[in-house]
Amino acid sequence: MSPQNAPSLITALVREAALAAGFTADELEPAAPTRDAAHGDYQSNSAFRIAKANKQNPRAVAQAIVERLPAHAAVRAVSIAGPGFINFTLNDAWLGAQLVAQCEDAQLGLAQRQGRVVIDYSSPNVAKRMHVGHLRSTVIGAALHNMTRFAGYEVIADNHIGDWGTQFGKLIVAWRGWLDAEAYEADPIGELQRIYADFEVRAEADPTLADQARHETAKLQAGDPDNRALWRQFIEVSLQEFNTLYARLGIQFDEVLGESAYNDMLQPLVESLLASGVAQVSDGAVVIPFEDADGPGLAKAPMLIRKRDGAALYGTTDLATARYRLDRWSPTRIVYVTDTRQQFHFQQLFAACKKLGWTQAELVHCWFGLLSMPEGTMSSRKGNVVNLKDLLDEAARHARALVDQKSPNLSDDERAKIAEAVGVAAVRYADLSQNPQSDVTFRWEKMLTLDGNTAPFLMYSYARCRSLQAKGGITAWTLAPFTPVEPVERELTIALTRLNEVVVSAIDGSRPNTLCDYLFNLAGLINRYYHDLPVLTAAPEDRDRRLQVIEASARVLGQGLKLLGIQPLDRM
Ligand code: ARG
Repeated sequence: MSPQNAPSLITALVREAALAAGFTADELEPAAPTRDAAHGDYQSNSAFRIAKANKQNPRAVAQAIVERLPAHAAVRAVSIAGPGFINFTLNDAWLGAQLVAQCEDAQLGLAQRQGRVVIDYSSPNVAKRMHVGHLRSTVIGAALHNMTRFAGYEVIADNHIGDWGTQFGKLIVAWRGWLDAEAYEADPIGELQRIYADFEVRAEADPTLADQARHETAKLQAGDPDNRALWRQFIEVSLQEFNTLYARLGIQFDEVLGESAYNDMLQPLVESLLASGVAQVSDGAVVIPFEDADGPGLAKAPMLIRKRDGAALYGTTDLATARYRLDRWSPTRIVYVTDTRQQFHFQQLFAACKKLGWTQAELVHCWFGLLSMPEGTMSSRKGNVVNLKDLLDEAARHARALVDQKSPNLSDDERAKIAEAVGVAAVRYADLSQNPQSDVTFRWEKMLTLDGNTAPFLMYSYARCRSLQAKGGITAWTLAPFTPVEPVERELTIALTRLNEVVVSAIDGSRPNTLCDYLFNLAGLINRYYHDLPVLTAAPEDRDRRLQVIEASARVLGQGLKLLGIQPLDRM
């Protein structure tokens, strides 16, 4: 049996029946799980759309469809509810066979999609510590990256680091003026951040500093070798720190094309936009003007692409970047993952691309709310920015207490490893499990509890499946089709077949929390399953079937965790 997807399968049957009844039936939505299991497993709302298109009564349409539904091994019963919902109950043997077919597929039965997606995420600024805001972009971006690739798209993960701009002139002045070499040796980014902050303070008292900084920026841009060398060093030490964090989070980028990569393209781009009339000179500066039709609020906010002093801006770079990506990769979609404060920037950028006819790719801004730490829970040693490394260290420390209490028998070394994995996963999951667009406050107790929507809960649920198998002496279990018997077994089986539907909806909505919600419910069901039913001690036939379910549970839950960037552990 090749893996199928129940919602699409049901919709195909509905369409066939509708056509047989003489209706037109275009663009039907896939069936959705019913809210109440008493009504069946899946519900199709297609009768409403078909009724509308054919100017008929929905209930009569549903009736006609049900009468002509082709028989299919997947379907056990069909009924009509309310004004025209069609409810489907799936066949138990089909469900068990379907689950096994999915588990045997590397993509868990997810119908592979075509297309190429660029995901622009993390994108921190050089010479600054990555802060908790970048944590969200990194973690959400990585989850989208994994899921998008899993769904069959070709993905280009591009880290658009902020490595260009006037701040480098200031840094160069500060470096030559008041660098503490020893402090730099010990903590390069920390020291760069300190001298930069100092620049701002000193510049208030001494206006000549700003002139010096402008001068150094100009020299850097003109290719002065000393300034270039310093600038390269700033990038290098920053990337070293970023890369340590990426390694800890298990993240790899395909490209690290920072803002500087586009520098030479900016002025020619502005000139060509002026020549084509899309951009205009306004008060000595160059802008792209918008009209009401371009989007809400845009008519009053032209996009500034060259300042009066000739300097290009963040938005100019983003336009050049968009053009470059379209030319180099011909993507079907470009996703930008940044915080909520950049919403207007991306509205302008997307509207400008549309005006320019750069419409080959769908442009998506996946924005997220702010993340904060409760007052007083983490000492931020330098200033008030919480250093990401400190945050992860603190998480591993908190997790250690949990691991010591849960697994006192494991060696010290193993417990330390588990604590690191659980701590980092807890931080990640606390972020991902929220709707990206709401603000998040981290609370250690909440994100590390074992009975809540947390990474430790999911990881322990996975490890329990694996340790149950280990207890039974099972090292490699070969799956074989089975027919679920007990209600909880059936419910779990059907839930396990749904990962592929969920991943697709998480990608389309740019919302990894959709996957988290699913995994949380799934882990709850798995726990209920091994709580309610004996496995290893059951009669041979039951034991065999239940071991199928346990193996499938571990595979699906494990795959789901990996998509979120969490490495499931067999032993905890
Ligand atoms: N470096 C920017 C920041 O830290 C984020 C860049 C996002 N990507 C982009 N193409 N604008 O806010």
